[in-house]
Amino acid sequence: MKIGIFDSGIGGLSVLHEAYHYLPEQNYIFYADTKHVPYGLKTPEQILGYTIGITEFLLDKGAEAIVVACNTATSVAIRELRKRYNIPILGMEPAVKPAVEGTEKKRIMVIATPVTIREDKLKDLLHRVDEHHRVDLLPMPGLVEFAERAEFDSEDVLNYIKKQFAPYNMDEYCALVLGCTHFNYFKPAYRQIFGDETLLIDGNYGTVRHLAEVLGLEISKTPDNEVYFEDTHKMLCMANTEYYYSEIPITDERELERLRILHNRLEKVRKN
Ligand code: DGL
Repeated sequence: MKIGIFDSGIGGLSVLHEAYHYLPEQNYIFYADTKHVPYGLKTPEQILGYTIGITEFLLDKGAEAIVVACNTATSVAIRELRKRYNIPILGMEPAVKPAVEGTEKKRIMVIATPVTIREDKLKDLLHRVDEHHRVDLLPMPGLVEFAERAEFDSEDVLNYIKKQFAPYNMDEYCALVLGCTHFNYFKPAYRQIFGDETLLIDGNYGTVRHLAEVLGLEISKTPDNEVYFEDTHKMLCMANTEYYYSEIPITDERELERLRILHNRLEKVRKN
């Protein structure tokens, strides 16, 4: 099966990466809209326009299902995309439900882009699941730019995150929900601020499991063994993937190397 996965940038690689673990036998087309990143600071109309263009591009390339590996694009465009195109289209939303259901009493922090936080989709979700008003929302658009520069562990990153969290008392929180796929890369930095007890929750496994269900695919029972992610840069699954940056195929060895390094980063932080 050929599965299209797209995002504004490298955030969506974290979803593809999880798919490599659980659905290693499928074929993928990964599309990062590097021409228009960051989506989180664009208007809903602009984002909708980009996602329609990308979906048509992926259909043209033979995608049989599409994952919108971007919370921001999902919150603006998923309904319209499903209306227009007759293949399975999966979206992502901040994993608030598992956070609320999996914890008691203490507060939950959701970090996302300003668009995701403003849109009704997240408000509706909170209305449904946040019965005791335990969830706080915090925009972190700066992290998208750090991620695109592959700057994950610098002093500037840590200072930025600390500054955003400064108005809150970290001891009150039991979970941090990563409501933007770009935010996965920074798990070690959150750990420095939140400590070991706090759960870091992303939606990647849930999305891949849902994808498997919708497509009737069986997920791997040995997700941590089958894929070979090592610094030797032999990543078996990458061979099953066509990579594009805003319609431009990535075939250049230097760029592929950059993608391998990003996959290695994701592998390292996956279990944080
Ligand atoms: N990775 C995207 C998300 O999950 C958006 C990042 C951006 O382009 O602002 O929301």
